[in-house]
Amino acid sequence: MKVIRKIQKDIYYVGASDHRLERFENLFSIPQGVSYNSYLIVDEKTALLDTVDASVGEVFFEQIEKVLENRPLDYLVIHHLEPDHSAMIEEVLRRYPDTTLVINAKMSEMLKAWVRVPYRFSEVRENETLSLGTHTLKFVMAPMVHWPEVMVSYETQNRILFSADAFGTFGALSGNIFSDELTPDESYYGEARRYYANIVGKYGSLVQGLFKKLQGIDFQMIAPLHGPILRGDLSPILNRYTQWSTYQPESNDVVIFYSSMYQNTYRTCEDLAYLLAEKNVKNIRMWDVSKTEVSYLISEVFRCRTIVLATPTYNGGLFPKMADFLQDMKALNVQNRNFVLIENGSWAPMANKQVSEIVSSLKNVRISECSLTIRTKFNEDQLPLLEQMAEEIAHLQ
Ligand code: FEO
Repeated sequence: MKVIRKIQKDIYYVGASDHRLERFENLFSIPQGVSYNSYLIVDEKTALLDTVDASVGEVFFEQIEKVLENRPLDYLVIHHLEPDHSAMIEEVLRRYPDTTLVINAKMSEMLKAWVRVPYRFSEVRENETLSLGTHTLKFVMAPMVHWPEVMVSYETQNRILFSADAFGTFGALSGNIFSDELTPDESYYGEARRYYANIVGKYGSLVQGLFKKLQGIDFQMIAPLHGPILRGDLSPILNRYTQWSTYQPESNDVVIFYSSMYQNTYRTCEDLAYLLAEKNVKNIRMWDVSKTEVSYLISEVFRCRTIVLATPTYNGGLFPKMADFLQDMKALNVQNRNFVLIENGSWAPMANKQVSEIVSSLKNVRISECSLTIRTKFNEDQLPLLEQMAEEIAHLQ
């Protein structure tokens, strides 16, 4: 990387993107790649804010050397120890042995386990500050957004929130490192939601806790560890974060998730969708749980208020793909939704009972009493029941 990317006076972007990685955390597909962000402040003192994933280490150090121009690196501030941000800590210490790590008490415990080169460190606590000269960083602890040791920092001169994993998103930065260079649209928010729901979704109350601590801080820019730096009107993303972290749907849309072995359950869902459309329900989405990676399904659950789950019975239990999806919903703390159930069972239908058990363990959900059992194929006699189901869903809009 030969071009130096400045985000503000004396503050540089020294992160990098990976377009080749197929799965983030070896789990979530990332068709548009991912960025690992790192920032370098050059003041009376110099401070590197986080490192990057090992895959982009070379370009990371090229940029640091170019920006520092032989100045020493005084501080390495660590906001989060997950390896996509901490993989280069040891190498930073080898190249800049006089660097002081700026960490918190939880990080102290965790670092001992795996950093094998000697290091000096300074522990910061809630609301403590680090002065670099003109720029000052103020630290705010953010436990479980996404790991227990996470902290964020606020740069007081330019009013920048260095937000760790919060406000991150999937997708490489192809030249545009600022959100207002990208014109954030639904594709941006879709990936930001998929990232939030799957990475931080479980810990909504702790995200809310962080927001409370940040109340009254007038930040002008949010610099996360993944995805574009947010600036300009921050209210759209802040509003979405409030919805996501309080488990409130973004819209009243209906989404139908189905698993279907021989297209029979699918056909019934399609009929339901047509009946809904006739009742003027807009934006109905249908997702094949067998074909769609669960991270996209979870993102849709975070977006929509009413969720139809349709699945065959399988080995006396749930169809495996639907079972995985439901377990993920539970793990990620989904709340405040309406559920409507359809099952298929040729001789001993069991799915609705089991789906209902899992879904009813979620907070503040409503499971419709109007459910449907298909015996291999939907029977014409059941049409009034499907009509009734559509009518009820339409009234939920
Ligand atoms: Fe991007 Fe929780 O690491």
